[in-house]
Amino acid sequence: MKNLTSPQTMQRHSRRWQRDGRRVVLVPTMGALHEGHLSLIRRARKLAGEDGVTVVSVYVNPTQFNDPKDFKKYPRTLAADKELCRAEGVDAVFAPLTLYPVGASVGIEENDLALQFEGEHRPGHFAGVMTVVAKLFHLVQPTEAVFGEKDFQQVAVIRRMIRDLDFPVRLILVPTAREVDGLAMSSRNVRLKGRLREQASVLPAAIRLAKESVSDSVEGLKRRLKRLMEAQPDVSVDYVEVVDADSLRPVRKAVRGTRLLLAARVGPVRLIDNSAL
Ligand code: PAJ
Repeated sequence: MKNLTSPQTMQRHSRRWQRDGRRVVLVPTMGALHEGHLSLIRRARKLAGEDGVTVVSVYVNPTQFNDPKDFKKYPRTLAADKELCRAEGVDAVFAPLTLYPVGASVGIEENDLALQFEGEHRPGHFAGVMTVVAKLFHLVQPTEAVFGEKDFQQVAVIRRMIRDLDFPVRLILVPTAREVDGLAMSSRNVRLKGRLREQASVLPAAIRLAKESVSDSVEGLKRRLKRLMEAQPDVSVDYVEVVDADSLRPVRKAVRGTRLLLAARVGPVRLIDNSAL
């Protein structure tokens, strides 16, 4: 497995892979790899096949953190991440020290899907995500890039970027990996200790309740879900919404094919989740 840190070296390799006509499958991550990431990596490995190349990028991207404390506390486990990648047969780990030149002043913004939900609660977040993903696409030149459904709005925004800016990349989606109680795996879960971890179970419980309530009016459903989650002493809901899965526009009836999006703080840890209804 290649360990790459320099963007120039990364680009040199990707040019060669492209010249040789090899499929290149990229899995962008911020590290602290867990089973969710590994399911993306396995998908990438399978898709690349024997002749193709899999690249996992590990980079805690500062521009997508609106809260400097969250950036500082974000878990960093590069040595363990590399071991996991090696065990999965990854061809190259790209872990740059930084991707931004001093004084970097260019970024990508999206002015429809990114304005609401995570975009509203984390100003600048999606501009940071799109800018870093665009940079990774330039450096790695993947034929395919694998993303998790866990970050549903992120996928929608990146899909729009690929379309609007003509990136020659096919986006591959992988379902959310969950703990036994249904909690979506997340690098932030290590910060959920004891009682907070127990209370976090209420997020998957809310999803289960929503699935049993399809065809209810969204307003009533949202109230019930919020009440259920906030019955836990340390849980406060940022948003709960039912949207059209493509446009991310709120819908009035929670019918099949719509998507539940939710975000809540459990103590100091902010969690997001989503599910098809
Ligand atoms: P990160 O949170 O590390 O996630 C990397 C990828 O793993 C994303 O596509 C995310 O949706 C996916 N993922 C996370 N938890 C998952 C789970 N439980 N099941 C399935 N997939 C899961 O998302 C980012 O990093 C960054 O925004 C990034 C795209 C790398 C840009 O910096």
